[in-house]
Amino acid sequence: MCGIVGYIGNRNSLPIIIDGLKHLEYRGYDSAGVSIINSDKKIYSFKKAGKVSIMDDAIDKDFYTGSIGIGHTRWATHGVPNDINAHPHFDMYDNIVIVHNGIIENYKYIKTRLIEEKYTFITDTDTEVLANLINYYFRKTKNFEKAVRMALIEVEGTYGIACLCAEEPDKIIVARKGSPLMLGIGNGETIVSSDASAIINHTKNVVYLEDGDMAVLTKQGFFLKSVEDKDIFRNTEVLDFLIDEIEKGGFDHFMLKEICDQPETIQNTYRGRINFETGVVKLGGLEHVMDKLINAKRFIITACGTAWHAGLVAEYMIEQFCGIPVEVEYASEFRYRRPIIRTDDVMISISQSGETADTLAAIREAKKFGATTIGVVNVIGSTIAREVDAGTYIHAGPEIGVASTKAFTSQLMSLALITLMIAGEKKTLPDKTLIEIAQELKNIPEKIKHMIDMREEYKKVAEVFKDTKNFLYLGRGYNFPVALEGALKLKEISYIHAEGYPAAEMKHGPIALIDEYMPVVFIAPKDRTYEKIISNIEEVKARKGRIIVVASDDDEQISSYADHILRVPTTLPIFAPILNVIPLQFLSYYIAAARGCNVDQPRNLAKSVTVE
Ligand code: G6P
Repeated sequence: MCGIVGYIGNRNSLPIIIDGLKHLEYRGYDSAGVSIINSDKKIYSFKKAGKVSIMDDAIDKDFYTGSIGIGHTRWATHGVPNDINAHPHFDMYDNIVIVHNGIIENYKYIKTRLIEEKYTFITDTDTEVLANLINYYFRKTKNFEKAVRMALIEVEGTYGIACLCAEEPDKIIVARKGSPLMLGIGNGETIVSSDASAIINHTKNVVYLEDGDMAVLTKQGFFLKSVEDKDIFRNTEVLDFLIDEIEKGGFDHFMLKEICDQPETIQNTYRGRINFETGVVKLGGLEHVMDKLINAKRFIITACGTAWHAGLVAEYMIEQFCGIPVEVEYASEFRYRRPIIRTDDVMISISQSGETADTLAAIREAKKFGATTIGVVNVIGSTIAREVDAGTYIHAGPEIGVASTKAFTSQLMSLALITLMIAGEKKTLPDKTLIEIAQELKNIPEKIKHMIDMREEYKKVAEVFKDTKNFLYLGRGYNFPVALEGALKLKEISYIHAEGYPAAEMKHGPIALIDEYMPVVFIAPKDRTYEKIISNIEEVKARKGRIIVVASDDDEQISSYADHILRVPTTLPIFAPILNVIPLQFLSYYIAAARGCNVDQPRNLAKSVTVE
């Protein structure tokens, strides 16, 4: 949510900052701006509503040539997305300029105080208040670092900031609390960013800042201290993804590329973690909490959005194979409802970004009560990955499209591995079944590839429905969460209203919506609920609904019910969601593309939601 880039070194900073902002744009794209310190040691800012490319086209590159600068791409929280509210923000004396991710919760109180001190404001943002607060302390101390420190101690809420000071034009000061920030350590240069994708083009060596950390960057390097002025040390880590992984690679959109990457990404999730001959799973990051996992009285799964849907599938898996009760919670609800948490509970938190504010808060709540927390996370080194007691990375690689696709299937695969690992240890599954599952797991990438090869078939169905106003998605058992995910994908990127329901619940409400205009997507593989789903299809058919079915390759009977069929290979129920969601990802992608929607950057959404 919002992206920050800053550069200090010997190169021209503007192209580096703009390139970085373009890589961060998936985090927010309401407006963009930069502040550069030119060779005259003065700060010059430029900002524009809209995408980074609008700012990039409009900025005079011959003028902004300094080697120190900061930039921002915004997802609006306070104040409408216009030129004025875009970051960076100056204080009223044009001394401090700041880019900020997060929310200053007590900004109104601070603003009132500053107004009493005769400060004036030109924007509606909490960030401008922080710029003025820093300047307020700068006027008292005549020391940029001290001023930032004193201001941040007063601030309630979350922030990742990078700021410049006109009176000390040789440095950038950065700090974080609840909003990610990292330093890329180059040769004679430092790049600060909220996300590794803005850094990887320049260096693979990074230092992740932690909450409460502050860093002063100069051309000579940087030093770290806590906001409270205590010495701290952070290791330098090496980024392990390739530049190719954050490029489109010939596809029209990142989302399409990421859908098509799934045969590889799913393999990356399980590679080296399962023995196909014995069915034994080993997840290194969970080994030291194995006792807690097998003796857990209950699993509580917390997540948001797509990750929450993966959690719902895990509920079916873990209860069926491990015999341990599972509750799945929206992290945002969990954190505020005084949940009962015991020390023998295990919380599994699922998050692509590893930065989602609500999921992180739920983890902190669980830790307070002594539960064991484990993370199922994609972004390596992210806050959630570092705060949980133990965890497993899904290894899906950087996901850029705002609508999550490959992360979802890798989350499902990781959760299946966790399930098999626990079931193996607890002996809740016969060896024969474990081996059978492991053998089928090996076939999953090939089966996904088969669907990718036949994506033109899915596209034909999408073209029929591109002008539809509403959609209903229905599934049962393992495929009920797939129905939710299919509906979410469609509404996120095409702005068509879509709802997912357990198929049998249709009779308790949604059936009233069915008429000859309503497309209903049934997820109906040949499993033990097949006959029941067929009855639900009949009910829709009787009311003239338009029937689209995700059906097994070998299901011949289905053509007598369905108007359109999205074929999927057969598999075991535990892996069915991984396969069944893929035609739905394609369906939403092709519908959105046919409607001319901005697939990778749908309106109002952000990839990583680091505010409540
Ligand atoms: C946002 C994204 C979704 C994602 C959700 C949870 O809403 O647009 O794609 O599922 O956040 O994010 P996380 O990073 O925690 O999985």
